[in-house]
Amino acid sequence: MRELKHLFDNNRKWAEQMRQQDPGFFTKLAEQQAPPYLWIGCADSRVPANQIVGLDPGEVFVHRNVANVVSHTDFNCLSVIQYAVEVLKVRDIIVCGHYGCGGVAGALADVPLGLIDNWLRHIKDVYEASDLVHGAKNGAKEADTLCELNVAAQVRNVCYTTIVQDAWRRGQNLSVHGWIYSLDDGLLKDLDLCISDPDQLAAIYRMRGTG
Ligand code: CO
Repeated sequence: MRELKHLFDNNRKWAEQMRQQDPGFFTKLAEQQAPPYLWIGCADSRVPANQIVGLDPGEVFVHRNVANVVSHTDFNCLSVIQYAVEVLKVRDIIVCGHYGCGGVAGALADVPLGLIDNWLRHIKDVYEASDLVHGAKNGAKEADTLCELNVAAQVRNVCYTTIVQDAWRRGQNLSVHGWIYSLDDGLLKDLDLCISDPDQLAAIYRMRGTG
C-alpha cells in the first residue's frame, strides 16, 4: 500500500513551523474563519491561491476548477459563492486566470480530451462570442488573449448570479475583480475589470426589484 509518507512528513514539519511562528495559530483558526476574499482560480498546480498573494490559512476562501469557469448551473461553484458572500461576508471576489492555461489551450484545440470537453465548451463559447473568431489564428497570442477574455467573462458570470445581485440589492459592499497570473515570472496583473455595482452590467442581467 502506498501511504505517501513524505506528504505526512512535510505536514508535520509545516504544522510545527506554524506553531513556532504563532503558538495560538491553529487554536484561533479552529474557532472560526473570517477571510475577506473569495478566490476563484484555475485548478492548475502552478497557481496556488494562498502562496501567490502571500496569505496564510484562514485569509482567503478558495474555489478552483479547470480554467476558472463560473457557470450558473454549477452548484459547486454557486454554493461556494453563496457561502462566501452570505455567511463569510467576503468583500472581494477575485477571478484569477493564468496565461498558459491548459484548459484554454484545450478549448482552442480540436483534439478530443474526453468528458472535460463539455466543461471547456464554456471557453469555446467565450471565444465564439469574441472578436478572436474573426481574426487570423495566432497560436500563443490568441491563447493569451482568450485567457484574458475568459477572466472577463467569468467576472461577469459572478456578477450575474442571484447571489451577487441579492448582495448588492441588500447594500452589501462587494466587488468582483479580474486578475491574470503569469507562470513565467510569478506576477499577477489586474485586468481592471472591477465591478462593484449592477450599473456596470448590461441591463438584461440587472435585478433591482424588491421581490
Ligand atoms: Co489553467
